[in-house]
Parts: sequence; C-alpha cells; structure tokens
Amino acid sequence: MKLLLTLLATAIINIIPEPVSVQVQDGFFNTKGCKNRIHCTVNPDSGIAPEGYTLTVKKNRIDIVASDDAGIFYAKQTLDQLVQPDGKVPCVKIVDYPRFPYRGFHIDPCRHFLPVEEVKKEIDILSRYKINRMHWHLTDDQGWRIEIKKYPRLTEVGAWRTEFDGKVYGGYYTQEEIREVVAYAAERFVTVVPEIEMPGHAISAIRAYPWLSCTGEEVRTFYTWGTPDISLCPGKESTFEFLDDVIAEVVELFPSEYIHIGGDECRKNRWETCPLCQARIKELGLVSDENGTAVEKLQSYAVGRMEGILAKYGRKLIGWDEILEGGLTPGATVMSWRGESGGIKAANEEHDVIMTPGTDGMYFDHFQGDPKVEPATIGKYTTLKKVYSYDPVPAVLKSNGKGHHVKGVQCNNWSEYIYDNDRRDYMLFPRAFALAEIAWTQLDRKDWDSFNRRVDIACQKLDERGVNYHVPIPEQPGGSCDNLAFEDKTSIELTTTRPEKIVYTLDGSEPTAASIEYTKPIEISESCVVKTASVTSYGRLSTVRTINVTRMAPMPALPESEIFEGVRARRTDGKFLNIDDLKGREWRDVELAGLRELVALEAYDRNLPDSTRFYAAEAECCFKVRKTGVYRFSSDTDAVYIDGKLIIDNSREPVKRYSRHDRELVLEKGIHKVKAVFIFNIVGGWNDLRNKTDVMELRPGDPEWHTLRPVTL
Ligand code: ACM
Ligand code: ZN
Repeated sequence: MKLLLTLLATAIINIIPEPVSVQVQDGFFNTKGCKNRIHCTVNPDSGIAPEGYTLTVKKNRIDIVASDDAGIFYAKQTLDQLVQPDGKVPCVKIVDYPRFPYRGFHIDPCRHFLPVEEVKKEIDILSRYKINRMHWHLTDDQGWRIEIKKYPRLTEVGAWRTEFDGKVYGGYYTQEEIREVVAYAAERFVTVVPEIEMPGHAISAIRAYPWLSCTGEEVRTFYTWGTPDISLCPGKESTFEFLDDVIAEVVELFPSEYIHIGGDECRKNRWETCPLCQARIKELGLVSDENGTAVEKLQSYAVGRMEGILAKYGRKLIGWDEILEGGLTPGATVMSWRGESGGIKAANEEHDVIMTPGTDGMYFDHFQGDPKVEPATIGKYTTLKKVYSYDPVPAVLKSNGKGHHVKGVQCNNWSEYIYDNDRRDYMLFPRAFALAEIAWTQLDRKDWDSFNRRVDIACQKLDERGVNYHVPIPEQPGGSCDNLAFEDKTSIELTTTRPEKIVYTLDGSEPTAASIEYTKPIEISESCVVKTASVTSYGRLSTVRTINVTRMAPMPALPESEIFEGVRARRTDGKFLNIDDLKGREWRDVELAGLRELVALEAYDRNLPDSTRFYAAEAECCFKVRKTGVYRFSSDTDAVYIDGKLIIDNSREPVKRYSRHDRELVLEKGIHKVKAVFIFNIVGGWNDLRNKTDVMELRPGDPEWHTLRPVTL
C-alpha cells in the first residue's frame, strides 16, 4: 500500500518548488463547487515559519494554516498545483516553508523595454512559484525608464535612443504605471526592488542633464552595449542633490525596504582628471593603498552618500558587489554577481548577501544550448541543470558559520539580446522554475530527476497561457552546423541538453510529434534537408532546426593562372546594413597583411560611436588545402566567398554577433581562394570585433591554415 501511494504521489504530485514534506493520503477531494470547504487560518502563534504553511486536504475539507498572509497565498499556489486534470485534489498533508526569505528575479527594461502588462505577467507567473522579489533595473546607459517629476528630461530625452539605422527606440513607465505594478505585485506577495544606477551606467541621465558628469559634455543615450567611460561626477554636490531628489520620488513609489543603487562597472578614468573629483579626494584624504585606489575609495564615498540618503527615508542600500571596492559602506547588502567571492567577503564582514553569480547559473541571458542553434545571446552557457545545481550558500560560509548572511538568490535577465516578449520568456522559462526551487526548497529535498519531470507540468501551464519557453533544440555533439556537405555518405548525430525525444523528417516537411523518432545517427547518402525538433513528454515541439545536407563533388583547386600571393583588399566608406547595400559602390584598394585586419581599418571610440568612420571592406587571399575532404567554415564577418561562391551571409541577422550561417564544403587538395566581407556598422547594439584573435575559423583545424594564411608561391 505504501509503495502504491508513493507511486501515485510520483505521478500526480508535481509541485514546484518542492515542499518540505508531502504525505499522500488515500482518496480525493472534489473541488467542483466546493470552494466553501477550504478553511484558511492565519495564526501568528502557530509556530509556522514566516511565509510557511500547512495544507491538509481531506475528502470533505481543506485546511490551510499559516502565521501570515503570505503563507496562505503560498498554500493556495501549492493547492492549485495539486489540482488534477479532472478537477480532483489528492488527499495530502503538506508542511512547507522557504529556505530563503529573498527569492528574486530581475528584469531589465533599459536595453529593451517591456510594457507594464508584460511586467505584470511575469510577476503573476513567478509568484505562483513562490518568487517574492522583482528587481526592476530602471535606469542604465541605454535608457532611463522611470518618470521623475522634478527632472522631466530624464524621460523626455533620456528614455530614447537613436540607433545606427536612425530608428528611435525607447519607452518609460509613468509613476502611475509604477504604482499599478507595485500594487499588483503586492497582491501576490512580491516586493518590487527598484534599481537606480549610480555612479556608472548613467549615460541616459547625463544625456538629459550633462552637468551630472565631470566634463558636462553632450552625450547620446547609448545604443551599443558595454560601458562608457563617462560616469556621474562624485566631485559635485549637485550630483548628490540630484540623486537625493530622485530617491525622494522613488521611495514614494516603492515600499521596498531595499533600494538598489547599482554600483557596478563604473569606469572611473574621468575622475582621475576631473578637478572637482580630485578636490573631493584631497578633502577626504583618500589615498591609494592595499584597500583600493583613490578613485575606488571615491566610489565607496559616493555609495556611502547614497546610504545616507536612503537612511533619511528609512530605507536600506543594496548594490552590486563592486560596492565592496574601496571599502564597504556599513549596513549595505551586497548582490554578488561576479561569482560568489564578493558575497563571501561581504558575509565574512557580517553584511547580508543576495547571491546572483553569473558563473554559477544565475545569469539567464546566457545560452541554454549550443550557441550555433540557439538565438544569439550575450554569451556563456547556463543550462537548466546548471541553474538547478546551484546552492546559494557557499561551502566556506557553511563551515565558518556565516551562511545565515545569505538572505537569498536571484536570477538576472539582462535584455541586450531580448528584443521582445517571446524572447524574454524563452530565456526566463523554464530556468526560472529551477531558480524557484533553489530559492525555496530545502537542500535535502532537491532532486534533479524529480524536478526534470515536474518542470514539464509547469511548462504545460505556460502553454495554456500562451507563454513561450525554451525546449532543448537537437544539437550535434561537438558543434552544430546547419549546412553540411559530404562526398559519398555521411551521418548526423543529434543530442539535447537534457533528455528529450528527438524527431525528424527527410522530405522537407515540418516535423511533428509523430515524425520518425531519432534513435541512432541518421545515415545519409543523397542531398537532403533534415528537419528536426525535440518533443516534450506532453507533445510540445522545440524550435525546428533545418539542416541542409549537400552531396557534392570536391570543389576543384584553382588553376595556376588564378593563384596570387598576399592579400587583395579594398574598402568603401559609409553606413551599410547588409551586403546588398554594397552593390554598385566605388571601392578603393587598401593594403592588408591578413584577413583579420579587415575589422580594424578605423578607430572606434565606444564613448562616441558617432565619431566613427563607418565603412565596408573585403579582402581575398589564396590558401592551401592539404587533403581533399570536408571543411567547415565559420566567420564573424558579414560574408564569405570560397572560389567565388557565396557560402556565408551573416549580414541579415538582427545582431551582428556570432557566425549564424556556418557551412561545410568538400574541397579538392590544392590552392583555393577565400574572400571575406566586413561591414563596420552597429547592428543589435554590437559593434566590435577588434578583440577577436581571428575573424575566420575552419575545421578541421590544421594550425597552418586555421587562419587561412595567404599562400606564398
Ligand atoms: C551586472 O551584470 N553588471 C551587474
Ligand atoms: Zn568629477
């Protein structure tokens, strides 16, 4: 009987986050028309932990007891997840309470804006999984998103940016809208923690009020990603008067105990030469020593001023872990994002900490599968399992007794590459379900296999609401490519980041859940199109991958008469978006030593992208193929031609980053010709290839021509 109940429980109890204890009993409660048999009791003397509850489902009644209203709300969320497709609820006794009081998600409307309705949607979904904080990143270089009545230009001007192609992008929340979101969140026991960035990431404010910077120079709201050199000037009293005025309006809107002041990635080089900053450094007696440089201490001073401002309004300061540099302001709480070390240092100094390390799975702007098949992201790699595997309390804090300073955990959803709502949801789900579990569930109740099953139920609920989410896309182990080539025969191996059924077609039709199931590598001897997707346990398909597989005779080596030494290159100046824009242009020859130089023909100042001389250039050279065979080309340039044939066109992607159109060719032994086209422009906020060691990659990676070194005759 016990075994039967356990099996039954596995099949029908699918709660995220997993509760502290679940005892399944015999029978079912019938919900239809029986709402009046649900009894909720708030009893502060119940001994139940804050936000915790007991939920007892009997055949004829349901009892919920909690010591606060949040506990009742969470019990109801659990009850919701217990309801079976036929409307019945299994009889259970559940005892539950959270591991951490701060269970957060973060949202970035600055890089790409999301409307109020979408903010509310995310709050509504995540609160059902017992997430209770929304960190709202409201100001950054790329846009100021909160109405401040005393400084109307912040939103009139700072909320808008003109992009490379001349389009104006922006938006902001009125104070009324913010009140609406805060109230909506409060009904769901979510506290909204606003972030007002200082002293870096503040170009949008400086755009509106140039006197906020050291030099007072005119700037543009940033339309590229990354950090400018221009920050708020902490040498001026007027900067702090401004910040105080802003915070005065912010605290009226947000009841949150914490106000986030940013503090991350502030470039301080202008402070080195600013007379006012230097005067402040002198006045405060700040000197560079083993605890930090003078300008780091100036940042620490600025953060301390913010703490004073917040204290005046009865609020507490939270900031990114850079606030540790130059000395941590007393009373500050640290959000540890550059790994855990900032959090560990802060906890050791008796500060509270929220863990949100990118290296440990808390940055949901990372790829969640092979970058060659997933949509472009900011980079790195964070699978669902990696998120799930994270324990927010580092071992060192467990062993030294400081673990209690870790108040919680948060996922960050930076939106540089999140252009719209579907993309945001794709990045957020189902990883946010894993976050919910690591934030709420006791460590000894975590179980990846069980979660992996339960997460399907949560995803099905997203389907019911029409909310997008990530389903693993079939990948080729060792690196995916959508344009394969072969001479006689080939085979394609597929896998997924977590176990899912894979289906495919070979006749060009769209795969369905009933298509051929992948069980072993697909053997191919004729040109074909493989369309493949994974299928969840409940029949939902992933994004479909289309793999063009081409049978081809080796492309013949160049005849002697066409072989040349060195690089032939030319350029044309202007703003171009894709390779069609280059047709009919006038070109002039330039001298280059290698293909890589294509990307660096003009200086680029990230502070002043408009001062750039934009151009397009192309370069060709001959290279040696040592052995007839299949070679795979990948390039971060806009287009690649081999022996005069266009094989890669990356120039139409929404972001100019990562080669999205790699291609294989069969090449005959001998000399071949490659031409790369590079358009220096800013598409999707991305501008800079100059840090790359090369612009072209080739497989297999024969070191001699890995870089497509020009032949010498
Ligand atoms: C951050 O990701 N710059 C906090
Ligand atoms: Zn200054």
